[in-house]
Amino acid sequence: MNKGPMQFTEYTEALYKGERVEGMDLMPEALPLFAATAFNQRTLSDVRKVYGDKGFTYIRCKNPNREALAEAVSYLEHGEATLILSAGMAAISTTLLHLLKAGDHVVCNADIYGETLNIMQDILPKFGIETTLVSFMETENIQKAMRPNTKIVYTEVVSNPCIRLADIPAAAKIAHAAGALLIVDNTFTSGINIKPIDMGADIVINSMTKFMNGHSDAIGGSITSTREMVDAIDVDCRLFGTPGDPFDAWMILRGMRTIGLRVTKQSENAAKLARALEEDPHVLHVNHPSLESDPQHGLAKKLFHGDRITGMLSFQVPEDMDKIDDFMGRLNFAHYAMTLGGYRSSLSHPVTSSHNHVPDDVRRAMGITPGLFRLSVGIEDAEDLIRDFKQALKAFD
Ligand SMILES: Cc1ncc(COP(=O)(O)O)c(C=O)c1O
Repeated sequence: MNKGPMQFTEYTEALYKGERVEGMDLMPEALPLFAATAFNQRTLSDVRKVYGDKGFTYIRCKNPNREALAEAVSYLEHGEATLILSAGMAAISTTLLHLLKAGDHVVCNADIYGETLNIMQDILPKFGIETTLVSFMETENIQKAMRPNTKIVYTEVVSNPCIRLADIPAAAKIAHAAGALLIVDNTFTSGINIKPIDMGADIVINSMTKFMNGHSDAIGGSITSTREMVDAIDVDCRLFGTPGDPFDAWMILRGMRTIGLRVTKQSENAAKLARALEEDPHVLHVNHPSLESDPQHGLAKKLFHGDRITGMLSFQVPEDMDKIDDFMGRLNFAHYAMTLGGYRSSLSHPVTSSHNHVPDDVRRAMGITPGLFRLSVGIEDAEDLIRDFKQALKAFD
């Protein structure tokens, strides 16, 4: 039956992408887990055919669960193709090691995930690759840092933990004018809230461990780009042994089916909670670009749809450690957790975790004080969350 060319919303389409895999005649309502390390062939001509068609041979080369998840991610991120890797860090390191060689230079946002910075500062120099770190808050900084040998401009959409935005279209313009590629880590925002590829990014990376999976129970990473780029990176991915595990790919696709509902609600909840925290007399400062007081509110309006920006926010309370412990103990939701993007709210304290090794004066200059909490907002009822935070903040009375 020809149903005709109909257009549906992303919320609907995201439920169906990757539901069938090549070579499978059955039509299960949910894609099964293919844990097999290899696929049998009957004859040598079948072997030649499966190699020629780049079909399913060995688990590190191609796996149906990774293929299905890749189709869903490509749809969401508006890319031609996607590679599924074992972690967000695998996606980042594989992409950089594939694209760069000795003598190349990277311009990187200084305000990004600490372990990505470790790759830039500790791993790439071993291969003769230099990185200049600059704040992407002012676009002129990117332009000034560009060199004739700059091959990559690298940023996240939203920084951790101060929730600062990078102007993706402006960064793309600068990178392309210099013949460099723009790589964007979309982990804090996801393809539901922003499509960096539509804004000029050449490659989009996600730690699927976070909002993409959304259930705090699987690890994975993705690289989305053109078919040509993804096929080229895939060659190195197989050599490095960084492809994703089928079970995690299966779990993440299951989690991703509800990304439209989850991330929309998480982002709207974050905006509501940010407003409530800003009004609370115990809170010194709130970082969330949905707030009119936020210096990047104008940029947020340009890049995002209304309050659908990110489920991440951070806020500052007085630097009284006993009261901070009391506050955390009083919260009913928002448990402390070294992750983000799950369906339940979770808290982290950058000074004792991600930024523990950074000297205090440097941290303070970055806006990270011992009173700063980062919050990954879940899908709880917004009013419940607000009530719970307000009662717990009374610890600072
Ligand atoms: C922005 C960002 N990118 C990448 C990563 C790395 O992801 P993974 O832990 O899946 O390797 C993280 C982890 O927290 C992250 O926050």
